[in-house]
Amino acid sequence: MKEKLTIPELHEMTRKGEKIALLTAYDYPTALIEDRAGIDIILVGDSVAMTVLGYKSTLSVTLEEMLIFTKAVTRGVERAFVVADMPFLTYKTDVNTAIRNAGRFIQEGNADAVKLEGAGIVVPKVKAIVDSGIPVMGHIGLTPQSIGILGGYKVQGTKKESALKLIDDSKKLEDAGVFSIIAESIPRELTPFIKDAVNIPVYGIGAGAYVDGQILVVHDILGLFEDFIPRFVKKYTDLSKTLEDVFSRYINDVKNGNFPDDKQMYHMDKKELEKLKITLKKHKDSF
Ligand code: KIV
Repeated sequence: MKEKLTIPELHEMTRKGEKIALLTAYDYPTALIEDRAGIDIILVGDSVAMTVLGYKSTLSVTLEEMLIFTKAVTRGVERAFVVADMPFLTYKTDVNTAIRNAGRFIQEGNADAVKLEGAGIVVPKVKAIVDSGIPVMGHIGLTPQSIGILGGYKVQGTKKESALKLIDDSKKLEDAGVFSIIAESIPRELTPFIKDAVNIPVYGIGAGAYVDGQILVVHDILGLFEDFIPRFVKKYTDLSKTLEDVFSRYINDVKNGNFPDDKQMYHMDKKELEKLKITLKKHKDSF
C-alpha cells in the first residue's frame, strides 16, 4: 500500500522545483492506472458531463452524479491526492449550502479536497469551506461553469483590465485559504504575474509552462473525446481508433463464428457427460 500524498508534501515538491502532474479521472479503472503510473493529483472534473455523460456543457452534471464518479475514483487510488469538482450551483447560492455540499465530497466521496470555479461571490464560500476544515483548490481564467457569461470557450485575460482582474482574483482566493489554483486558458505571458502574486502552487491548463504543474482532461490525452480539441491539448494516443478497430474485429468474429473458440469454453468431465446422456435417453424412452 502506497502512502497518500498530502498538501504539505505537494507544497514541498513544488518548493524543491518538482513539477506536479495532474489528470482528470472519473472511474475506478482509470484512477487505478493513473495512480499506478504515478500521477500526483487526480481531479474528478465536472468535464465528466461532456466526456462521459455526453452533455453539451459542464452545467448539466449534478451533485449526486459527481458523488458517484468521485466514489469510483477514490476506490481506485492509493497515493494520488484526489480533488472533486463542485458542480454548477452547488456552492454559489449561500455559505451553508456550499459547506454542506463540499462536506459530502469528503464524507461520502472520500475525496481529499474540492475545487470551486471563479472568485467574486465564490471567495466567501471558499473561506467558509476552508474554515470548516475542507481543503479547497481554486480555478481561474476560463471557468466553464460561467460559459454563458464568458461567451464561449475563449482565452481569458488577454486585455490589461481582465489580466489585472485575474491577478487580483488569485490573491483573493489565496487570502480565502485555497491550497492551490488552476489557471485555465490564459496567455502564457500573464502566467508569471499570477504566479508571482501568490505563494501557493499554480497549476496550468492552457496557461503555458511557467507553472508548478500541468493538468489535462484524460479523455483528451487518450484521444477519446472528439467533439472539440482545445489548442492546449497534447494527444498521446488515439484510443477512439483503437477501440473502433477492436469493436469491429469482435463483431466480425461473432458474425463469422470465430468467437468463441475452445480457449474461451468450459468443459464437462467425460464420465459426467456420459451419465447425463444415459439419463436423458432414459427419460426420452419413457415418454
Ligand atoms: O472539469 C475539469 O476537467 C476541469 C479541468 C479542465 C481543470 O475543471
